[in-house]
Amino acid sequence: MGNDRVVLVANEGEVVGYVVLLVPAALEDPVDLLRIAVAPAERRTGIGRQLMSAALQRCTGRTILLEVAESNESAKALYRGFGFTEISRRRGYYAGGEDAVIMRWQEDHD
Ligand SMILES: CC(C)(COP(=O)(O)OP(=O)(O)OC[C@H]1O[C@@H](n2cnc3c(N)ncnc32)[C@H](O)[C@@H]1OP(=O)(O)O)[C@@H](O)C(=O)NCCC(=O)NCCS
Repeated sequence: MGNDRVVLVANEGEVVGYVVLLVPAALEDPVDLLRIAVAPAERRTGIGRQLMSAALQRCTGRTILLEVAESNESAKALYRGFGFTEISRRRGYYAGGEDAVIMRWQEDHD
């Protein structure tokens, strides 16, 4: 079974942000959130949150995993705000020796 790559774009006359998800066909396999970015001049205006909301709406009933550099406080804050929690680390994963933080999101089934 193939994986779907889903790209969601925030567009305000020009592209100001995007999120890329790798969505395995098998429902039990986790979705990978591969990238999210907002144009520097447009940051901190809620676009990242809108992109995450749109991404999570596509992931009903699924688990999402992502990797983020330890020092990337803005991204970690965004992810935590959506209920992502740290589940593990990859020590020295990035060039320069920085750790990768692995975070997971699961829809609340309550
Ligand atoms: C991470 C990123 C996508 C956030 O996008 P954004 O549009 O600025 O985010 P929003 O304005 O929607 O902010 C949502 C929340 O994220 C957190 N956040 C975003 N930027 C932050 C910062 N500079 N410092 C602390 N928290 C921050 C806050 O909790 C914020 O909520 P608040 O504004 O109510 O406090 C953006 O900073 C970016 O493109 N960074 C470079 C690419 C990157 O590092 N991507 C992630 C790794 S692949």
